[in-house]
Amino acid sequence: MSVAQSERLGGLAVARTVAALRAHVAAWHESGESVALVPTMGALHAGHLALVARARECCPLVVASLFVNPTQFGPAEDFSRYPRDEAADAAKLAAAGCDLLFAPGVAEMYPAGFATTVEPGPIAERLCGPFRPGHFRAVATIVAKLLLQIRPEIACFGEKDYQQLQVIRRIVRDLDIPVRIEGVPTVREADGLALSSRNAYLSPEERRIAPALHRALAAVGERVRRDGVAPAAAAAEGRAALLRAGFAKIDYLEICDAESLAPLERLDRPARVLAAAHLGKTRLIDNLTLLPE
Ligand code: PAJ
Repeated sequence: MSVAQSERLGGLAVARTVAALRAHVAAWHESGESVALVPTMGALHAGHLALVARARECCPLVVASLFVNPTQFGPAEDFSRYPRDEAADAAKLAAAGCDLLFAPGVAEMYPAGFATTVEPGPIAERLCGPFRPGHFRAVATIVAKLLLQIRPEIACFGEKDYQQLQVIRRIVRDLDIPVRIEGVPTVREADGLALSSRNAYLSPEERRIAPALHRALAAVGERVRRDGVAPAAAAAEGRAALLRAGFAKIDYLEICDAESLAPLERLDRPARVLAAAHLGKTRLIDNLTLLPE
């Protein structure tokens, strides 16, 4: 399909195949314009649109991808019920100033015989790693493919998924992928809850409890920074606060080195507090900086 004939959705050009995508992007690269990529799984909210805004600040041309990547969901996770509304997403992207949407099908991204994966190493084995086996391998693989398919100068990722952001920084450095990774601060509701496509799963009662996650992380930060409490003790207080607030199960709440995500015993370098906890059937994650990176 030529660029001129490509499909449009919500006012936005859409590429469904790697070939159509490359036709668009090759023309841009030839004209010397730099390109920014915003990878997403759709169900777009203001957090995703903040990435598009950052991408636009960095580059004159912005590609967003929309692909609900089946391999990064565990067997008991929400792949089949993940919210999907491609037309609404395309309209939001067009309004935000995106230039092209790459929305491939599963067979286009994983053709018959697909067998190669990107294994991110120890950074993927901590925090969410043990609770979501294979998740970061699947994310690293699909993001590496998108970076090679599009060859953007810049790619934008949210700090909301901080471990994902650090995994991607690691693979880009390790594989010498020529792209600059931009981390974008988390967009939150007025009560502190980080925007997430999965917030739609929360009952009204769970939604009322949910901001306690952000409050607990902020309190842990204060205890370490202001009161000089040791990271492990402050993290234990944070876990107790989450249980008191009504979270059913805590996967982790830890203070980590901001780059390697290794556990920190003293606040002597850039640090982050990260947590994952369950409210009913919904697993929420969040994180905050302790010492600026
Ligand atoms: P998805 O969950 O759709 O998120 C796409 C991007 O939006 C990620 O970089 C994520 O960190 C960012 N994001 C989500 N909520 C945010 C918020 N409240 N504030 C700022 N940024 C936010 O993350 C994925 O998709 C996938 O794993 C993907 C990278 C696309 C690979 O499949």
